[in-house]
Amino acid sequence: MISKNQQHINNPCIGDKGLSAGAVVAKAKENYKKAAGGDLDAIDPASPHGKLIKAELQAITDVMNEAQGLINEKGKGLKGFLPAVYARQVTQKFNPAAAALKLTAPKNYIRNQANSPDKWEDNVIESKFKAAGHPKGQHVSKTTTFKGKQAFRLILPEYYKESCLACHGEPKGEKDITGGTKEGAKLGELGGAISVVLFK
Ligand code: HEC
Repeated sequence: MISKNQQHINNPCIGDKGLSAGAVVAKAKENYKKAAGGDLDAIDPASPHGKLIKAELQAITDVMNEAQGLINEKGKGLKGFLPAVYARQVTQKFNPAAAALKLTAPKNYIRNQANSPDKWEDNVIESKFKAAGHPKGQHVSKTTTFKGKQAFRLILPEYYKESCLACHGEPKGEKDITGGTKEGAKLGELGGAISVVLFK
């Protein structure tokens, strides 16, 4: 949603963009229904999945509420409210004792070193997500120790969509509108991964 709305967000002529926390949460629920065929509200709130969903929707709400002033500022074009910046802000809202969420990418596509994959993430990305036989979109999970504590880890591949290619696509080496360098990526190519840690 933040990617599809980049032009709208950066339009200096419009004040209220209609991207309130409520609108973004409603869209997230709609997307989940389309992707998973189920209702987010129907997930047991006491289950690990339910707890993660609740924490994520709360984090989205906090970030969108705090971003309203920036997004709705009239007369300002480029606002730097990028998909990756939004994702980082959401992940930073998580309670670090309970869960962690991170947007990472294949090592050769990392722009911000803070998003670099750790050893496990890098290994899954290179040996599974990039493998010819890996079913598109399929996650990998593992129960393991993380920072000395028992944890459940899950990583989900993300592929470049049309709306991403304005910045991450071709021609390789050219500047995108943020001043970053385009990767020359192709539609549907593995571009990133969402990594989740849930402490037991
Ligand atoms: C307006 C330009 C723009 C668009 C559109 C955009 N990105 Fe990015 N993307 C960036 C920039 C700039 C960064 C580095 C942000 C930072 O400093 O954290 C980034 C970072 C990322 C990262 C984090 C890894 C890294 O490089 O540090 C991923 C993954 C990513 N983008 C994937 C996507 C996907 C998938 C889409 C489409 C859904 C998308 N991006 C749309 C500009 C863009």
